Amino acid sequence: ATAFHAKDDGFLYCDDRKVVDVMEEVPEKRPFYLYSKRQLTKNYKAYEAALSGLDSFIGYAIKANNNLKILQHLQQLGSGAVLVSGNELQLALKAGFDPTRCIFNGNGKLVEELVLAARAGVLVNVDSEFDLEHITQAGKIAGKTVKVLFRINPDVDPQVHPYVSTGNKNSKFGIRNEKLQWFLDEVRARPELELVGIHCHLGSTITKVNVFKDAAVLMVEYAEEIRRQGFTLRYLNIGGGLGIDYKREGAILPSPTDLIDTVRDLVKREKLTLIIEPGRSMVGNTCALVNRVTGVKSNGNKNFVVVDGSMSELIRPSLYDAYQHIELVSPCSGPVDTFDVVGPVCESADFLGKARQLPTPPEGAGLVVHDSGAYCMAMASTYNLRMRPPEYWVDEAGQLQKIRHAETLDDHLRAFEGL
Ligand code: LLP
Repeated sequence: ATAFHAKDDGFLYCDDRKVVDVMEEVPEKRPFYLYSKRQLTKNYKAYEAALSGLDSFIGYAIKANNNLKILQHLQQLGSGAVLVSGNELQLALKAGFDPTRCIFNGNGKLVEELVLAARAGVLVNVDSEFDLEHITQAGKIAGKTVKVLFRINPDVDPQVHPYVSTGNKNSKFGIRNEKLQWFLDEVRARPELELVGIHCHLGSTITKVNVFKDAAVLMVEYAEEIRRQGFTLRYLNIGGGLGIDYKREGAILPSPTDLIDTVRDLVKREKLTLIIEPGRSMVGNTCALVNRVTGVKSNGNKNFVVVDGSMSELIRPSLYDAYQHIELVSPCSGPVDTFDVVGPVCESADFLGKARQLPTPPEGAGLVVHDSGAYCMAMASTYNLRMRPPEYWVDEAGQLQKIRHAETLDDHLRAFEGL
């Protein structure tokens, strides 16, 4: 079971704390994100165990959740990090990540950002011809040799939503194999660059791990070819993308061990150092968005539960039609009906869940959106001037701790000071 589970008494718990009690304790009477620190540790340890016996490191994808406390905790557990902007890079350094276990990735990295990366000594993915040029310039400016990986687009279909599929041949990411020779010749001619590895990332919410094997087989062929040409290639980075059980129906989804075991023998045989870049599967199930019911209404043949959270705090349902499970935090004897769970934002796209079977809740009831640790707070906006919510975790000792202040209207007004 994950940290968030209903017990026999009918109440929802985060570890050993009743969520309804946490709602009492949290002073802000507005939506908040609630995490289980224990679950975070457990998820990291699952990857660590999966990788045991392999020369490897974990690069946690910071984009999934950039809470500094979460980053510091993962860093202390031994994680590296995947960065996709200069700001993520600076945050990772602030959180104490070892730069040699960080990878700067992206299809539009700016020279300024690459200079930061070169100075810090992080690994850098090469995404295109112009990117190679920009990384070279950054190496010159910083006076450093940049260790690079080629991000290769292996054209393996991860069988996921098109918005989160990244490794197909028409994708904007990475370089295609027919261009590999050009990149090898260029990198050899540039003293600012040292080729140390290859990378691929297929997509996200992947539930069939054989696609990682398919990709790794292709990647190893490239690795062999690159080594034949005299490069000492060290890293094989197979990206992130493992899905999680959003439905919460107990489906058996592949674990980190299942994923790693598909590539273990290959990586060992080739004496490569494996890099894995989990985001969602590291933080997704560590958190729920906790909301309060504002009221219940019906229009036409639809019933609505209106809560105080919205697409501003959590946009995945609106943006990807993503399913995240919704549950009341306390037992409720109201008649069960089918509801759309919606927020107060002035848009019909503002929903957290559609056609959910729920007991008709009283006003003020607590309602959670599960599995909100990945790409939820990180994608939150202040649309409708709904300032970003506070975050809390239940620590190992069962204590509630604030891990991020709520944004306030003053934060908004600060952007206009002195203008
Ligand atoms: N590595 C690279 C190069 C990536 O582009 C990503 C995610 C990851 C690792 C981590 O993937 P994960 O393990 O989290 O699947 N906003 C979307 C997901 C976008 C994923 C972008 N890339 C969502 O909310 O579903």
